[in-house]
Amino acid sequence: MKKSVPTLEQLMQARISRREWIAGAGRMIAATSAMALLPHAARASKATVAQSANSSGLHFTEISKTISPTHHVAQGYDVRVLLRWGDKITPDAPAFDVYRQTPAAQTKQFGTNCDYTAFLPFPKGSGKPDRGLMWANHEYPDSMLMFPQTEEETHYTPELKARIEMASVGGSLIELRRENAVWKPVLTSNYNRRITAETPIQISGPAAGHARMKTSYDPAGTRVLGTLANCAGGITPWGTILTCEENFHDYFSGDTRKDHAEFESNHRRYGIGKSKHPRNWGDYAERFDVGREPNEPNRFGWVVEIDPYDPHSMPVKRTALGRFKHESATVVLSPDNRVVVYSGDDEKLEYLYRFVSRDAFDPDDRSVYRNILDHGELSVAKLDADGTLNWLPLQFGQGPLTKANGFRSQADVLIETRRAADLLGATPMDRPEDVEVSPVTGKVYCSMTKNNERSRDKVDAANPRANNKYGHILELVPPNTSNKPDHAAAKFIWNIFILAGNPSEEAARASYPTRPSEQGWFTNPDNLAFDPAGRLWIATDGQPASIQYCNGLYACETEGETRGAPKLFFTAPIGAEVTGPSFTPDGSTLFLSIQHPSEDSGLDAPDTRWPDFGKNSPPRSSIVVITKKDGEMIGS
Ligand code: FEO
Ligand code: CA
Ligand code: CA
Repeated sequence: MKKSVPTLEQLMQARISRREWIAGAGRMIAATSAMALLPHAARASKATVAQSANSSGLHFTEISKTISPTHHVAQGYDVRVLLRWGDKITPDAPAFDVYRQTPAAQTKQFGTNCDYTAFLPFPKGSGKPDRGLMWANHEYPDSMLMFPQTEEETHYTPELKARIEMASVGGSLIELRRENAVWKPVLTSNYNRRITAETPIQISGPAAGHARMKTSYDPAGTRVLGTLANCAGGITPWGTILTCEENFHDYFSGDTRKDHAEFESNHRRYGIGKSKHPRNWGDYAERFDVGREPNEPNRFGWVVEIDPYDPHSMPVKRTALGRFKHESATVVLSPDNRVVVYSGDDEKLEYLYRFVSRDAFDPDDRSVYRNILDHGELSVAKLDADGTLNWLPLQFGQGPLTKANGFRSQADVLIETRRAADLLGATPMDRPEDVEVSPVTGKVYCSMTKNNERSRDKVDAANPRANNKYGHILELVPPNTSNKPDHAAAKFIWNIFILAGNPSEEAARASYPTRPSEQGWFTNPDNLAFDPAGRLWIATDGQPASIQYCNGLYACETEGETRGAPKLFFTAPIGAEVTGPSFTPDGSTLFLSIQHPSEDSGLDAPDTRWPDFGKNSPPRSSIVVITKKDGEMIGS
């Protein structure tokens, strides 16, 4: 008999009764101190939060959807380019030359395809800083944009390209100063550094030193070269950066038919050897050849912690947070000060995860917090149709996570996080991208960017559209403990916040809590950010062919009369994705990464020469700084 499939209306109806509960819970949580929820590095002053949370909303005049060679922003705002791919990070870096690039130059220059940004003010927690550190991820090298395609015009051999690519990824740390209201990089700062695919990185937590983490170049299984596919991230309350390894499978090549246990389920589950964007790094660096180093992929797919205040510190891969294609790692504290980290696994039909530390964070006890992310419980989300979210612990020895299923330790559970989550019956999602927590209400928002592999018989209440072309945003509501949102609780409730798409297009079956304007609807939500007043900013990543306009940054209230009615604030140049929105603690500066301008055409005949527009200027991914002309808070 044919399985009956619930309609979108039925799925949504099942959730209606929950909405009133959520509205009530939101009011209750709003009464608690927003300050308790924020990492101190991202705190606005109490006065700023209180004043802005009571304000009546977003006052900018929205712009129009467009396809354009350049960016556009709402009237009354300035956009300045802060750092472009190839810009100097240290004074001795050579000037950028796209036709004569070298690996040595690239390791001293801002990397490619900037993504997540984080701003850490000096002094830590300063309300209105004029100095601070900027961290930016460099997600992946796009050879069409990095190298000329006409071979005879170039000095690039395949090996040179591979080595430049290895130097172009990872992340950049650079000090910024604000002079005359303009943020500028400080090239002479001792804090400045590049992390690349060749930087030594420590492995810690339950999987460190496990046999499956050992390679011929690291027989101890505790030190790896490089971090890869750094997508989004997070800031901890102790002022470190978390950077997330997402599509790490793209970098491994070689013979995957070997008679080796890792190839049977583990590597297949993570797409090793099945990349749509395969690279040739394994031809020049043995560790990326899985035929020779079958355990090396097990050393990627983690969350990496970086101490930006110690330029000599070695980054650390924190294996207790699980191994998957981490989009982000968003940190909050539970009412008893345990550290909670939310992270999505950005692939079709993958899961949403949460880590809760064993120990409580104490700002005065570095001996605890310096390795606090090594001990705790990882769990995965199961979203039931009645609106309950159950966090299912991924704990060796519990339920199916035993020897009978091939798990011999917690290290095995973490190395094969995805397979462990399958066995627990977690809810497969429509590509979980960013997760952010409202600093005012404590509610948690998660982007599902799209999923064309969700067939009609696989729709569920939390992923209610088959062939989900436009994506959606979920709202998760933790219960209150001691009048604070308890992010460590075993059960939350959940709701669909926005089903993205054009509400005027019936076939899109879009749904917004408040009807957006003609320009305010969006598709393919990806990175999210809350400003210090608790307004949600949504960056989009749609393919131009499917969205017919440029990607943008939208903003909306999550409570009140205009809840969930986005307004279009910024549009990217053609071919670019808007990523990595972050704010200074006073909310007066917004940083954005503009990633891969001219993506669909490449370097030789680009659709745009953003941001420089010279006769031969290459398109360059860049961080831009947005400020309001009157110096007030963004969106005010
Ligand atoms: Fe790297 Fe999921 O975006
Ligand atoms: Ca992303
Ligand atoms: Ca993306």
